[in-house]
Amino acid sequence: MAERPYVVGNWKMNGTRAMLAQARAIDRAAQNLMKVEVALAPPFTLIHATHREVEQIGVGGQDCHPRAEGAHTGDTSATMIADAGAKFVILGHSERRQDHGESNELVNDKAAAALEAGLRVIMCCGETEETRDGGKAVDFVSSQLETSLPEKVENAADMLAVAYEPIWAIGTGRTPTVADIGEMHRAIRALLVKRYGEKEGAEIRILYGGSVKPENARELLAADEVGGALVGGASLTAESFMGIVIGAAELQQDQ
Ligand code: 13P
Repeated sequence: MAERPYVVGNWKMNGTRAMLAQARAIDRAAQNLMKVEVALAPPFTLIHATHREVEQIGVGGQDCHPRAEGAHTGDTSATMIADAGAKFVILGHSERRQDHGESNELVNDKAAAALEAGLRVIMCCGETEETRDGGKAVDFVSSQLETSLPEKVENAADMLAVAYEPIWAIGTGRTPTVADIGEMHRAIRALLVKRYGEKEGAEIRILYGGSVKPENARELLAADEVGGALVGGASLTAESFMGIVIGAAELQQDQ
C-alpha cells in the first residue's frame, strides 16, 4: 500500500446537478480520513460545480483533447478543464479506447497536453478477457503502457498515477485474484522504475480498478503494489464510495 493511498471515483457518463449532494457528502467524510487522498472525476458538465462545492477532495476530468484550442467541435481541452477547476485527468480508459477508437499514441499526446496544462494524469491500462485467457495479459498491458506513457514526466511521482483496469472486470462484479493483481502491478512497477528512475518510478501510485466495492476493497487494496483504487459504479453514492475509502484507511493503519 502506498504511503498515502489514492481512491478516485470515476462517475463516467452519470450525474446531473442533483449529484452534487453526493460530492458534498464525500467531501465532508473525506475530511476525517486525511490518510487517504480522495478524488472525483465527474462528467465535464459538473467539474466546475463540483470544484465549487468541495474543500478537501480533488476534482478531475475523464478525458481531454490533445490540442489546447481550435476547430474541434464537441471536444474539450486540458486547459479548459483545468480552468473549470480540474486538477487531474483520467486518460486512456478502456471505454474511451473502445467507444472512440483511442490509440496508445493518441493517449500519449493527450497526456503531454494534460501535463502541459498542469494537470496530473491517471493513465489507464487493461486487457480483455480473451487476452488474459491466452496468458498474454502482462505482455499486453506492458506494451500498452510503453506507448501510452510520456517518455519524460517532471515530478512523475506526484504528476502521474497508473490505473490497471482489466476490461472484463469493469462493471461486471468479477475481479482478478489478488495474486493476478499482484503480478500485474509488479510488472507495471518494473516498467515505471525503468522509465522514470528508481526514486520516482517506485513512488508512482498504481491503482486497481474493476468492480471495487466496499465489500472487497480491503482485499484488493492489500495486493502487492496496489496504491489505491479507481472506482466506477460504487463511487456514485457517498455511502458506497466512502466504504471503500474507509477500507483503504483501515488497511493503511494496519500496515
Ligand atoms: P466499476 O467500478 O463500475 O467496475 O468501473 C471501474 C472503472 O472503469 C473505473 O474507471
